[in-house]
Amino acid sequence: MTGPSEQEGRPQRSSEPPRRRRSHTTSRDLERYTGLFARRTQVMRSSAMRDLMAITARPEVISLAGGLPDTSTFPADSFAAQMTRIAHESSAEALQYGPTEGFEETKACIVEVMEEEGMSPDPDDLIVTTGGQQAIDLIAKTLVNPGDPVICEAPTYPGAVPAFCSYEADVHQVSTDENGMRIDELEELLAALATAGRRPKFIYSVPSFQNPAGVTMSEDRRRRLVELAREHEVLICEDNPYGLLRYDGDPQPTLYSLDGGDYVLYLGTFSKILSPGIRIGWVVAPPPVLEKIGLGKQAADLCTSTLTQYFVREYFAEGRWREYIGDLVGIYRDRRDAMLDALERHFPEQAEWTRPEGGLFIWATLPDYIDTTDLLAKALRENVAFVPGRAAYVDGRGGSSMRLNFSASGEDELREGIRRIGRVVNEQVALYETITGEHRAEPAPDPEDDDPGGEVVPLPKR
Ligand SMILES: Cc1ncc(COP(=O)(O)O)c(C=O)c1O
Repeated sequence: MTGPSEQEGRPQRSSEPPRRRRSHTTSRDLERYTGLFARRTQVMRSSAMRDLMAITARPEVISLAGGLPDTSTFPADSFAAQMTRIAHESSAEALQYGPTEGFEETKACIVEVMEEEGMSPDPDDLIVTTGGQQAIDLIAKTLVNPGDPVICEAPTYPGAVPAFCSYEADVHQVSTDENGMRIDELEELLAALATAGRRPKFIYSVPSFQNPAGVTMSEDRRRRLVELAREHEVLICEDNPYGLLRYDGDPQPTLYSLDGGDYVLYLGTFSKILSPGIRIGWVVAPPPVLEKIGLGKQAADLCTSTLTQYFVREYFAEGRWREYIGDLVGIYRDRRDAMLDALERHFPEQAEWTRPEGGLFIWATLPDYIDTTDLLAKALRENVAFVPGRAAYVDGRGGSSMRLNFSASGEDELREGIRRIGRVVNEQVALYETITGEHRAEPAPDPEDDDPGGEVVPLPKR
């Protein structure tokens, strides 16, 4: 006879204990655990993007919220061939633990990638990490005591905020404009901290195609930033996942190449140029700092996945990695252009947005009476999502901004997503103008709203 669980494909063993279902947490449960929590858990924050991922996984939702590269562009047959080769030729080693700092072969691939942007690190100055995210966490773990100042851009990478908060850093944010971090403001902040007898531990920056603003730091500012780090003996943490994803304009020197690696800790990752699923990133740092980072990594996970390091090795041995990045650049450039075009068509004239030369994100800012956290709830009812701007600040700013991702959706989907967001934004603008009696500039007619049977592209269910 077939039992119900066998029908679900898994035979039930008679000794198996009944699975406990946790319907809700009671106040008694809460009391029991909260007394045990470390103090730092009180300042731990959730990453807004992680929270959103559950909602945006629904197939009917067009998500402009994640920072996902389009992994469907990676040729499945070459993935299959590489993994098969690993299974046949190195299965025991690939399934084994590896060195904490990573394999020499993985480091050689990383050096190739960094050389592409004009850097030539010593492989011994480098540790392979479980994604760039772990590198951020390990740097904070290594350098930050509770209350230590850490400086970053405003807005900053939303995933860095929970890492800095976990180590109880006192985070200061410096404004950005279309040329990246405002170095004049940084100088003022450094002077004010010095006067107060406080020394920041590091300045965290994503200088190229910043996540979330999409802006790139100018060469002058890069040079001045590196000088300031030397003058104040402060480390810079240069996070550069997007440097090779440039769609227009000329490459800028990395902070690491300008500094030579004395004050700049450099973070890289294969997530956006190969795959985030393999979870391979890296950090380059001066030897004394690297040694401590290595100790932190031993405690965190012993080593980065051996299997995926083998995959990287096989992939680089094929010698086509530059070609694949070239393909990504072509695809993402068209998607960026589609999103910029849709913003022009569907967002009201009061809105502003960045025009990134690379990377995966556009940052849009609406009139300040619109709160994008509230707007997200309305947008989700229209089955479209974005990251509200507050996720990129520690101090509640960013309330009328949003991060829009253009790498994870096709061009038609992007246009439709922006059309839906534009509709809820325009409703808010109209409501505000009705309430305040402000003159309303006639909004440009939305051709797709006038003729829903016309230009609206039917989207396949994902
Ligand atoms: C600026 C920045 N740093 C780090 C990361 C984390 O990347 P990884 O997937 O390598 O952990 C991301 C991911 O979006 C990012 O945008």
